[in-house]
Amino acid sequence: MVKINFLDENKKINVIDAKDGSSLLEVAKKNNVNLEGTCGGEMLCSTCHVYILSEHIDNLNKQTIEEKEILALTKNLKKTSRLACQIKITDKLKGLIFSIA
Ligand code: FES
Repeated sequence: MVKINFLDENKKINVIDAKDGSSLLEVAKKNNVNLEGTCGGEMLCSTCHVYILSEHIDNLNKQTIEEKEILALTKNLKKTSRLACQIKITDKLKGLIFSIA
């Protein structure tokens, strides 16, 4: 398990145990984070759009062209934007902070 952090809409940090190898979307859903993820990780919906608020952005698995294209269609796109369904949890992400876009 890897400890990561979810910053909620009240600016409260919630510590979450994330299973190595899971997607951030799976971890969020398991921990009752209100992240939609309508297409279940098929990169069709962009409703799993999150912001990575810690320096871990460089430790994430690389974005595919498809992820970049889907994100480009979203509102509120930032440099720290990612699709949670495309982020794989690894030890390197210990302490990561994310919020819902
Ligand atoms: S769950 Fe649909 S794009 Fe991530």
